[in-house]
Amino acid sequence: MAMMGSSISKYLSISLIAVPSFILLLRFLAAFPLPPEDVAVYPSLASLPKDSRSWSIYPENFYEGGNYVRFPFGRVRYWLFGPEDGQKIVLVHGLSVPAIIWKDVAPQLAGKGFRVLVYDLYGRGYSDAPNMSYSGCLYTTQLALLMQHVHWERAHIGGGIATSFAATFPNLTTGKVALIASTGIMESSDLSRTSKVMSSPVVQYIASSGIVHFFLQRLGAGEPSPNPIHEIVRIQSAFLPGYNNALASSLRHGPLRGLQSSFTTLSELKSDLLLIWGTADNTVPYRYAAKIQGLVPNSTLLTVQGGHHDLTVSHPDIVANALINFFHSSK
Ligand SMILES: *[C@@H]1O[C@H](CO)[C@@H](O)[C@H](O)[C@H]1NC(C)=O
Ligand SMILES: *[C@@H]1O[C@H](CO)[C@@H](O)[C@H](O)[C@H]1NC(C)=O
Ligand SMILES: *[C@@H]1O[C@H](CO)[C@@H](O)[C@H](O)[C@H]1NC(C)=O
Repeated sequence: MAMMGSSISKYLSISLIAVPSFILLLRFLAAFPLPPEDVAVYPSLASLPKDSRSWSIYPENFYEGGNYVRFPFGRVRYWLFGPEDGQKIVLVHGLSVPAIIWKDVAPQLAGKGFRVLVYDLYGRGYSDAPNMSYSGCLYTTQLALLMQHVHWERAHIGGGIATSFAATFPNLTTGKVALIASTGIMESSDLSRTSKVMSSPVVQYIASSGIVHFFLQRLGAGEPSPNPIHEIVRIQSAFLPGYNNALASSLRHGPLRGLQSSFTTLSELKSDLLLIWGTADNTVPYRYAAKIQGLVPNSTLLTVQGGHHDLTVSHPDIVANALINFFHSSK
């Protein structure tokens, strides 16, 4: 009797402790659902049939030293070339065109003794497109992961996302940062009409829900273009299911705007900035160069008279020489 009584009270006290905590656990799980098993990942140019023009314009082995690495948010394509003991530099492409944009610049740097790392950002070229927000965080961690993968402790950096990367991971860079007509402090009034449409919540919804493609696919709907750069943009937009979302999300959440504080950080870190800008840039107008100089006094501006936004393609020698001189003058 006494034993039974004590075991009943034992059960009772266990259930008094266990049941409420079980309920609390359920409530907790309901309030903070476990993350979905996996973020959906859309395929890259690597998924296109071999007769797609992308394979002849921008093949997987466009540069030497190509490789894939699998990261938590998908597979990433990178190329590593130039003398192994050269100064390390990573070149990052911009919003819509993958690493092909460095076609006439990167080989010149390698030829001048630099060890060059180029890669495709998530959602572009041969890198997979995770179905998520294309924030500065996604981009900077992609590069940090890539640098640990290739065992680079620090490197010079030039191109897209260079500002947020150098401000977020100063110890992974040499403090020398080159920006080529970079976005970062764009005002929405200057984002082109398309970009404004693309970055609106409605189009975000359309792009991410996959209901309608026609809006964004206008980018990809045109005739095949004889211009290889335009053609790669068209093919990505028309045939890669994650590309339009990657662009739209980058415009909305990515490091195109709101980088004032990153520039201030670079200034406090005493970073050395090289700005290369065309006077006829109607994507990121030339006056932004002066704005950035206002934020980072230790910056040098190279003006390309009459240059448009695509300076690495239109003026590769000017860009390559400027990068070589800028980065050579350091340890
Ligand atoms: C992609 O993400 C959106 C927004 O989070 C979601 O509604 C959609 O179902 C996702 N698509 C896939 C294939 O998981
Ligand atoms: C970054 O580098 C600075 C200067 O070399 C050093 O003082 C600091 O401890 C480093 N920070 C980290 C997190 O390694
Ligand atoms: C400007 O950059 C040079 C070269 O990297 C550096 O030696 C100097 O300390 C920097 N000056 C300021 C004020 O940040």
